[in-house]
Amino acid sequence: MCGIMGCVGGDAVQKVYRGLVKLEYRGYDSAGISVLSYGNICTIKKAGMVSQLERELTSLNGTAAIGHTRWATHGSPSDLNAHPHASGKFSVVHNGIIENYSSIKEELIAEGYSFKSETDSEIVVHLLNKYYNGDFLMAVKNTVQRLKGTFALCILCADCNLIAVARSRNPIIIGRGKGCFYASSDMPALAGDAESAYVLKDGQIAVIGEDRAEVYGFTLEKQQAEFVPVAASQTDTQLCGYPHYMAKEINEIPAAVKNTLSAFGKDCENALKGLYCGVNRIILTGCGTAYHSAMTGAYVMEEVLGVPARAEIASELRSRGCVMGGDTLLIAVSQSGETADTVEAARYARERGAKVVAVTNVAYSALNCVADVVVPVRAGTEVCVAATKSYCGQIAALLAVAGALSGKRIDGLEDIASACAQVLKCKYVHALARLFTQSSGVYFIGRGVDYPVALEGSLKLKEVSYIPGEGYPAGELKHGTLALIDENTLSVAIITDRALAAKTTASVQQIRSRGGKTAVIASQSCISKELEKDAQVCIKLPDCPKYLSPIISVIPLQYAAYLAAVICGKNPDKPRNLAKSVTVE
Ligand code: F6R
Repeated sequence: MCGIMGCVGGDAVQKVYRGLVKLEYRGYDSAGISVLSYGNICTIKKAGMVSQLERELTSLNGTAAIGHTRWATHGSPSDLNAHPHASGKFSVVHNGIIENYSSIKEELIAEGYSFKSETDSEIVVHLLNKYYNGDFLMAVKNTVQRLKGTFALCILCADCNLIAVARSRNPIIIGRGKGCFYASSDMPALAGDAESAYVLKDGQIAVIGEDRAEVYGFTLEKQQAEFVPVAASQTDTQLCGYPHYMAKEINEIPAAVKNTLSAFGKDCENALKGLYCGVNRIILTGCGTAYHSAMTGAYVMEEVLGVPARAEIASELRSRGCVMGGDTLLIAVSQSGETADTVEAARYARERGAKVVAVTNVAYSALNCVADVVVPVRAGTEVCVAATKSYCGQIAALLAVAGALSGKRIDGLEDIASACAQVLKCKYVHALARLFTQSSGVYFIGRGVDYPVALEGSLKLKEVSYIPGEGYPAGELKHGTLALIDENTLSVAIITDRALAAKTTASVQQIRSRGGKTAVIASQSCISKELEKDAQVCIKLPDCPKYLSPIISVIPLQYAAYLAAVICGKNPDKPRNLAKSVTVE
């Protein structure tokens, strides 16, 4: 959420611009770049996407630059609210929320500082000027010590060819390149440019120059920074011939599942078994799509392990004061590992003595630092804001965890990647997408393991196409929502469990008898004549063991949501108002 890029050395402006393009999935309502040019800071910033800056880049020249692509929290997406915020000797970009900004703003206004934006971030640049007496690092130290909340900052000073970065609960990485150093919100933006990188810890400040990087604590004690190699793999962040990342990433699901299962080694299995001793309940947590995979994990674990397991939305887990202790295993699921609500839920669990497992797609993420055991998802970089391949990877990882904790491998797991590849070729997905676009609302229903998939199908459709919809347990529709069904609505039933097929078929009939249109996504053995006969679309899935079906049944839903977005003329990779890696609570 908000992308930060900085560079000292070489063609800094172009490098920062390239980095911002790669970081755009973190926010895309406005963007800007500041560059140090012969002792002056020059800034361009605009509402809109990073590409809005391209035409003016030639007017910027210098060897130190910082840039930002924004997801607005305080103040609308406008030219003035766009970062960087430059004033006096400094320019600043910020990711996070400064909670005590209004009292500091009042103080600064009383001292004669004038504000141009409505953002919380602008106080930082004025604080830097207030505390600056020729010592850049000291001004940064005194500034960060005033801030409460969360921040990753990248700061340019007119008096030196250096950039300072600081971290408090929002990610920032420094990278070493050839004749230059970088700062970035995320590793993929450094791939191909930086050779090695260091992920700042909370409470650290770093100063980077053309040929050096120094790391300090917030009270300026010098600290060690161990740089690790940056994988040069860039294909993850390239379209490779696909029109959109969403299409590319759905097609990468078989590899995501396969790589995740291969990465689950003996060490991980043993560590999980050790952690599980004395556990008598399991709570899985996450947000959005990750919450849906957590739900699937809870359904499977409760059944396989015979231990109470439930999923909690990460923000609610703390809001409602969920009770837990040393007998609780908390499994936090997150693609980015940086989602503030999920990371804070994991910290909350730790503070109460619970054992914490992180299931993440990003090895260096904040969530991994909180966890006792990390279970890797190996979906590869996910660029599209809507999660697709990471969801399937997460479920594969959770099934591996269930297998490890129960001491029994989940049936059929070794064949799931090829089943995904088969489902990618399913017929009638285009027809389903067209039906979506012709409906006033789309209701997704399922029972048991099909219910979280119904929720995920609904989330995917609304976030990329803006077509309204809801996911429901199939048995719950008749308790109220059935009132919304008419001939303009479409209901999509997901049916993969033979034991529940007749019941969900009955729910489908209840919808049809009220004039509602229906579509069906079902395993071959769950499809009856009655179910297929009046369905507008019937997508047949290969039969597979019950716990594996959520990995494959979601694929036609993801792809149909993608196609619906394209039919509606929306950009599925960058849905309005959203961003990936939600680092604010
Ligand atoms: C929806 C989507 C979001 C994320 C959620 C959690 O397609 O991508 O709902 O799943 O913001 O993100 P992570 O998994 O990074 O914690």
